[in-house]
Amino acid sequence: MTDYKNLLFDKSFVDGEWVAEFEEKLDVKNPADGSSIGSIYNSGTGLLQNAIEAAHRAFVPWREKTAKERQAVLEKWFSLIIENKEAIATIMTLECGKPLTESRGEVDYGASFIQWFAEEAKRVYGDVIPGFSADRRVVVIRQPIGVVGALTPWNFPLAMITRKVAPALAVGCPVVIRPSEETPFTALALAKLAQEAGFPAGVFNLIVSDEPAAIGEFLCESELVSKISFTGSTRVGQLLSAQSASTLKTLSLELGGNAPFLVFDDADIDAAVKGAIASKFRNAGQTCVCVNRFLVQDSVYDEFTRKFTEAVSQLKVGNGLDEGVQIGPLINKKAIDKTKSFVEDAKEKGGKIILGGEPIDDYFFQPTVISEATTDMKFAKEEIFGPIAPIFRFHTDEEGVQMANDTIFGLASYIYTGSVTRSWKISEALEYGMVGINEGIISTEVAPFGGVKYSGKGREGSKYGIDDYTELKYLCFGGVK
Ligand code: SIN
Repeated sequence: MTDYKNLLFDKSFVDGEWVAEFEEKLDVKNPADGSSIGSIYNSGTGLLQNAIEAAHRAFVPWREKTAKERQAVLEKWFSLIIENKEAIATIMTLECGKPLTESRGEVDYGASFIQWFAEEAKRVYGDVIPGFSADRRVVVIRQPIGVVGALTPWNFPLAMITRKVAPALAVGCPVVIRPSEETPFTALALAKLAQEAGFPAGVFNLIVSDEPAAIGEFLCESELVSKISFTGSTRVGQLLSAQSASTLKTLSLELGGNAPFLVFDDADIDAAVKGAIASKFRNAGQTCVCVNRFLVQDSVYDEFTRKFTEAVSQLKVGNGLDEGVQIGPLINKKAIDKTKSFVEDAKEKGGKIILGGEPIDDYFFQPTVISEATTDMKFAKEEIFGPIAPIFRFHTDEEGVQMANDTIFGLASYIYTGSVTRSWKISEALEYGMVGINEGIISTEVAPFGGVKYSGKGREGSKYGIDDYTELKYLCFGGVK
């Protein structure tokens, strides 16, 4: 088994070389105790420009390979990631804090996009359209869009990269990635394995930089970049959209969420509690699809709250490397303070803190349950991104749906009910890109992940996830007599 230390790299990867723009190094901290994991050379827009130019040069030769040839390289990359699963998972837990079992799960999840899109690229079909005159024939083909910029977050340091770059690479687009500076080691391990897999120079580029705003703006304004895919906050997504206006660049945006979890009076309450725990506390509540609001029908409110609180009280908090830990640290002290502010706000407005409610130290926050939550509380409108579970009450189906939709966001939602009719009607009424029905974990490479409203645009994963990386071209054959 590879020692994780053999997969730690400290430079950016551009045009097939390990390079850096500056001599200055960035310290990467373990969120579980603030200790240093290592340091990485910082780079900026100078190296980014080199990466963009290298990617642009690599575009035509990469595009001209057959889907099967590209598939072979992607499959190799997939196998290398799986072979090094334990080492990558250890690096991930060290730099983002999630429990080792979740990190292992993320390696599988992230790698699954590579395998899926390696296969899917062979099925990028066009169309033959009946001609509009006797001597003409109409054909539509799909072609790769061009150089893709991928801006990725710290909460899924591996899967958010592969979910974007696997479809791009599979259809023939070179990529330039900027991972979060909080979690660069996982990203660089991926780059090392991409190098070993045999991507030609310039096809796979990754820049470590502590200047996300400058990198984002530069990518948006570059004439050589055709598309940007971003996962992160709605505020930054809006900024990137504005900055892309001058180049009319295509954007895929996976932004914030405010997921409702509706429990109806005919639900299997034990199943709902199980789904609630899985969805709310994944990565200590730090995912865009984590439940933000529990909406529970009046007649089952007390039962759900009691059973859920009992289950939450059993969760083990600690360093993600330790056996049996289910909830790791929050990413930094700012996240601890923000989480605390949600609790304070709820307390002032009449919420009952029935479990937790306090930071354990500068790194960990107690899993928290708040009952009698009301719509004037801050978490009714804002994404929590921490281990707090507010429980709201509703009476009728209409009221439940109205409360669920009363947000600018529209990423994931969840409903628990024993009724098929209710499942359909409520799912159709929810203004969200995804609905889990009697299921708290819905992410998979085979289904389209994405949101509506201020949660973004575009879909990642599934057969639809390839569309954003291709353009349609119409061919008109004349003189066919
Ligand atoms: C995210 O939090 O952005 C992604 C979550 C997932 O893929 O399940």
